[in-house]
Amino acid sequence: MSKLVEVMVTGVSPEVKARIEAFKKIRQQEEEARKRLSIVRHKIAVISGKGGVGKSFVSTSIALTLAKKGYKVGLLDSDLHGPSIPKLLGLQGQKMSAGPPGIFPVDGPLGLKVVSIDFMLPSENVPVIWRGPLKTGAIRQLLSMVMWGPLDFLVIDLPPGTGDEPLSIVQLIKDLDGTVIVTSPSDLARVVVKKAVAFAKQLKVPIIGIIENMSYLKCPRCGEVIRVFGQGAGKKICEEMDVEFLGEIPIDPRISECTTRGKHFLECYPESDVARAVDTIAEKIVSKIKEMKE
Ligand SMILES: Nc1ncnc2c1ncn2[C@@H]1O[C@H](COP(=O)(O)OP(=O)(O)O)[C@@H](O)[C@H]1O
Ligand SMILES: [Mg+2]
Repeated sequence: MSKLVEVMVTGVSPEVKARIEAFKKIRQQEEEARKRLSIVRHKIAVISGKGGVGKSFVSTSIALTLAKKGYKVGLLDSDLHGPSIPKLLGLQGQKMSAGPPGIFPVDGPLGLKVVSIDFMLPSENVPVIWRGPLKTGAIRQLLSMVMWGPLDFLVIDLPPGTGDEPLSIVQLIKDLDGTVIVTSPSDLARVVVKKAVAFAKQLKVPIIGIIENMSYLKCPRCGEVIRVFGQGAGKKICEEMDVEFLGEIPIDPRISECTTRGKHFLECYPESDVARAVDTIAEKIVSKIKEMKE
């Protein structure tokens, strides 16, 4: 049928028809994603204005700590360009299995349900070269297919900044309990991370609080505390932007050693200062979420 004849018969051009179909598909995927996420009680997005502050380390640590407390926890790595969750958890090279009902997350330590774009790439050296709409589409499609099952918490690790991925997650998951914002102690981070706070406020996403990572290094011999990366940006941001400070996490050089061994740091060193700090932070997150729901 020629374009002209089709327009005469159906009243719409093939282009318009294709656009209507694409729009319908997006709506269907959004609906499906919401349905699958409806059995997840609490959804927390971990964001930061700045890369390299340890956001993925913090996301994995919170997820594992909640799992250790007996909660059923899922972890979504939505950093399409630098997915690092599988590596931090020693799950590199694993694949998500797919069946008629959808895609199944990879089983991580302590029963964590882990989803990452990295599990779908043929090799870790393959870069993801996508622009905005494609990235939004990928996250939407992924969430429309994942079979999380019933979960108490879903921790979502977002890529740095306030770009396409954070925006699409916030738009897609309208019932986010809130966001946890990670900063490093430096003044440079403070300026950038404040933008993430403003981003959350602008989008009316509740802010659970701010975590300062890599706050200090404790000398293993004499116990002296050295503030390697500066003084307390986390607390300053909280005062300036009126948000809650959730705590500081020290630097531990053994983190990368564990990652190289294919284990998460908290599995290797459950009695460390880092583990204790994350435990206190996780408790605060749980009680703040309860408080915010009341
Ligand atoms: N508290 C910490 N002590 C020591 N190394 C850390 C700490 N937090 C994160 N790292 C390391 O810093 C690097 C960046 O962390 P990552 O979580 O990937 O950052 P982001 O997700 O913000 O880009 C990783 O190599 C990670 O192991
Ligand atoms: Mg990361």
